[in-house]
Amino acid sequence: MKKVSTSSLLKMKQDKQRISALTAYDASFAKMFDEQGIDVLLIGDSLGMVLQGADDTLGVTVADIAYHTKAVRRGTQRAFVVADMPFMSYATPELAYQNAAQLMSAGASMVKLEGGSWLQETIKGLNERGVPVCGHLGLTPQSVHVFGGFKVQGRDDLQAEQILEQAKELERAGIQLLVLECIPSGLAEKITHSLNIPVIGIGAGNLTDGQILVMHDMFGISANYMPKFSKNYLLASGDMRAAVNDFIREVQEGTFPSAEHSFN
Ligand code: KIV
Ligand code: NA
Repeated sequence: MKKVSTSSLLKMKQDKQRISALTAYDASFAKMFDEQGIDVLLIGDSLGMVLQGADDTLGVTVADIAYHTKAVRRGTQRAFVVADMPFMSYATPELAYQNAAQLMSAGASMVKLEGGSWLQETIKGLNERGVPVCGHLGLTPQSVHVFGGFKVQGRDDLQAEQILEQAKELERAGIQLLVLECIPSGLAEKITHSLNIPVIGIGAGNLTDGQILVMHDMFGISANYMPKFSKNYLLASGDMRAAVNDFIREVQEGTFPSAEHSFN
């Protein structure tokens, strides 16, 4: 069994093989997702909402992510493990280096940062210090209070153009993976085609290089409400392994997300 790496993820994009990704926060689920063939596991700061029951992700700490990253790492053999940098933990490049070091030591193979142009120096500096970076654009939940709620981004032409430009800037700065959250499918398609690196969507239509869901949403058991872009895969069989299998298969086939789980 070959481990998933930044180079195999890049090759998947080039070979037009879609990437499947889920969040995971503990060893048991990580192991089960890994055994079913998931490509990427993200220790998301969504854990603030689905594990801790908060209304947003802002209260999550580096220690929280490091704790869960250690657990996920122990359960994972094949999948590529990405850890979220929490709110304000990368406010300056120096802070980012210190905090990324903790997450990499805990077992992450890449860290994810939310935001655009302002992160260029941080991304370059992390790369130079041996830390691969995943970008995150569109609805970046750490900015929920700037957005005035969890709202679809990039709906007007100017905003769409800005998100596309930021994606190109992040790629030039050195990100090796990009997450696009809650943007219209057409914009996500355009960004995916404009970049050489793999692009993974959530609420961004089915024309990206891959898909990610929060595991609790995929099982339909989230404490908070169920987002429109998510799908309850436990409904069909009632079996967790079958649900994960169905999710991975629908991602690979490009049948998830369908129009009802996308924005136009
Ligand atoms: O925190 C998280 O789970 C995420 C994904 C939704 C991409 O950032
Ligand atoms: Na996140």
